Amino acid sequence: MKTIIEPFRIKSVEPLRMTTRDEREAKLREAGFNLFHLHSDDVLIDLLTDSGTGAMSSEQWAGIMRGDESYAGSPSYYHFRDRMREITGFEGILPTHQGRASERILFELIGGAGKVVPNNAHFDTTRANVEHSGARAIDLMIAEAKDPRNRHPFKGNMDVGALEALIEEVGADRIPAVMCTVTNNSGGGQPVSLANLRAIRAVCDRHGLQFFLDACRFAENAWFVKQREPGQGDRSVRAIVRDMFDLADGATISAKKDGIVNIGGVLLLRDADLLHRASDVLILTEGYVTYGGLAGRDLEAMAQGFEEVLHEDYLEYRIRSVQYLGDRLLAAGVPILEPPGGHAIYLDAKAFCPHIPVDEFPGQALAVALYRHAGIRSCEIGSVMFGGAGHDSPPMELVRLAIPRRVYTQSHIDYVIEAITEVHHGATGLRGFRIVEAPQVLRHFTARFAEL
Ligand code: F0G
Repeated sequence: MKTIIEPFRIKSVEPLRMTTRDEREAKLREAGFNLFHLHSDDVLIDLLTDSGTGAMSSEQWAGIMRGDESYAGSPSYYHFRDRMREITGFEGILPTHQGRASERILFELIGGAGKVVPNNAHFDTTRANVEHSGARAIDLMIAEAKDPRNRHPFKGNMDVGALEALIEEVGADRIPAVMCTVTNNSGGGQPVSLANLRAIRAVCDRHGLQFFLDACRFAENAWFVKQREPGQGDRSVRAIVRDMFDLADGATISAKKDGIVNIGGVLLLRDADLLHRASDVLILTEGYVTYGGLAGRDLEAMAQGFEEVLHEDYLEYRIRSVQYLGDRLLAAGVPILEPPGGHAIYLDAKAFCPHIPVDEFPGQALAVALYRHAGIRSCEIGSVMFGGAGHDSPPMELVRLAIPRRVYTQSHIDYVIEAITEVHHGATGLRGFRIVEAPQVLRHFTARFAEL
């Protein structure tokens, strides 16, 4: 088989800044060992997130120039709206400044004390927005998803039996919506099958419940469906995407992922009354309905990005290049969550540093070690992100290497593989951490740590 190449060439470059180990040690201490506190120009390869960090195409930059900045009725809005209608089939399309703004509007309207929101797995901001409304966020991942070695093809699937049991237990009237995150970010960037989405829809129909997608990475999910789901291989990604959206009553989307823009979000709604009320909250808190907290130019960039993300040569390159990182790490004996995800590789920190107990944050220890050793910034997705007062400890301790879209080349990734392999060889020397300062919610963003 031929090498899968980047289906683009590079027109504009950004220099990277090299640092010494001593400099990085000092930066870590200043940052309280929290990688969110680092200045990004002190980072060599930044795999903190794939969100808002992608490289825009020449057509997207051209859209930035074409953007019409009228307060109301901008042609850029209609361009964006029509593109989203064409891709998703939804009529009700609200622009927001990013995914969590869509979530906040939705849960302000449908959440509240006493309510329960099931999801295959909430991401951090989704969980925080559900809980901020007073509702309870419940994760219903299939059992296979909690075993890092299990190579189930649709590890993002929801446990539909557990959903039925939850509805039985709390009562359908307390569930304002069932959500499903595609791909499942906190569970390893793993896809959800069309069959699973249909099964969730059927349960929702039986109980008269609404079904919402957290569709941040809908195109990557559809690519996996095309590759792995029986009967889907000959269909276009576009047709699969349409099937996914057709099953839902609404969706929250962060365009910073599969929209390949630096800022932007979308809220999709079918119900006319909910759309009306969401528009009112949008105007109150984000901006008028034809710009939703964005500039007209951002709407043009989104319209183009959502189109480019559906190009199948792009998706093949995207998913295969993430898989390349995962396969090489596995070949070097590094424990990762298997199989490789769509937007990221997740190191299995429990297996990487078995000598560090969960309450000393093995994921944090590993993330700090990668920066210290090689200037690589990653993101802990474990007990720092999801633990703390009132929360059960999460099933896995992960360190996510999220790959920005169209940004790094294969030699950057080869450097990452070498560096992680070296850290793995010295893993017994890594030490745990304790939290010395943390806020009440979303503590991973601002907590400070001390090394044990
Ligand atoms: N839902 C999922 C599944 C996400 O991954 C994110 C963001 C959001 C919602 C919120 O979107 O950032 O635009 O407000 N995830 C980023 C990440 C931050 O690093 O995975 P947002």
